[in-house]
Amino acid sequence: RVPTVGIDIGGTKVMAGVVDADGQILEKVRTETPDKSKSPKVVEDTICELVLDLSDRHDVHAVGIGAAGWVDADRNRVLFAPHLSWRNEPLRDSLQSRLAVPVMVDNDANTAAWAEWRFGAGAGEDHLVMITLGTGIGGAILEDGQVKRGKYGVAGEFGHMQVVPGGHRCPCGNRGCWEQYSSGNALVREARELAAADSPVAYNIIDRVKGQIPEITGPLITELAREGDAMCVELLQDIGQWLGVGIANLAAALDPSCFVIGGGVSAADDLLIGPARDAFRRHLTGRGYRPEARITQAQLGPEAGMVGAADLARLVARRFRRAN
Ligand code: BGC
Ligand code: NA
Ligand code: ZN
Repeated sequence: RVPTVGIDIGGTKVMAGVVDADGQILEKVRTETPDKSKSPKVVEDTICELVLDLSDRHDVHAVGIGAAGWVDADRNRVLFAPHLSWRNEPLRDSLQSRLAVPVMVDNDANTAAWAEWRFGAGAGEDHLVMITLGTGIGGAILEDGQVKRGKYGVAGEFGHMQVVPGGHRCPCGNRGCWEQYSSGNALVREARELAAADSPVAYNIIDRVKGQIPEITGPLITELAREGDAMCVELLQDIGQWLGVGIANLAAALDPSCFVIGGGVSAADDLLIGPARDAFRRHLTGRGYRPEARITQAQLGPEAGMVGAADLARLVARRFRRAN
């Protein structure tokens, strides 16, 4: 029952923590994700530095990675990542040889879903769908206590379903992806556009960043929305509406009992989830004639991906010990 290390590698931040068998975080450190233009090795170096730092104060027996990318069926390679420089990177093998402990690699939304099912808002649910709203949209399907990975490992990439034909460009290479309309990036893009257009509805936020439009961030928009700023409330409503539409589509395909909404943007709470629930009810096919899934906020917040990665690493390490 020794603690393990979980690391969440997102498009913007890397968060690493020592987590015990009950999902409690004993220590947490974070840093910026190395720039996309840097080689994948630089991200590996960052991971190794964080683990080394934590090893000073904790016994590290296993490391779990939740990566913002498409992890193959062997859970070794990151095949592709819209927000990181990984292309067919054998992440698990390289880290395992560098760190000399068992390493588990999975998609960040999959590890978040695992954590919410084990310790959070999805506890006891046998048909759970997780949506994480951060730089992009992460997705995961968890049924009967197992993450569904598809044949090749990349099931649950909901963020890249097309919702607007010919819509906004997405770093995945397509246009009109869901994550271009309902994510932290989408929220910030819209606010900056209004500010850049010098719209009077943006005067308040322009003031707050003293005219420095690039300083408009998701947390600032949420903060202003809480203070009642009309533009920020409306932008979160838009994100929430798109979220509800997407969730209705997912219900048509997967029919879960519960959707857990996590990631940084979910901190906006009812400013986001309220409009999402409304849109879900308006767009669900067969509404009124079928049981409706519950839509709930993640309990582990932005730490879910890290906690889940640590917990999955524990399982992998156990299997490793039995096999050797
Ligand atoms: C990626 C996913 C990832 C999600 C959240 C998406 O753009 O395609 O693999 O889970 O962002 O980080
Ligand atoms: Na996933
Ligand atoms: Zn896309």
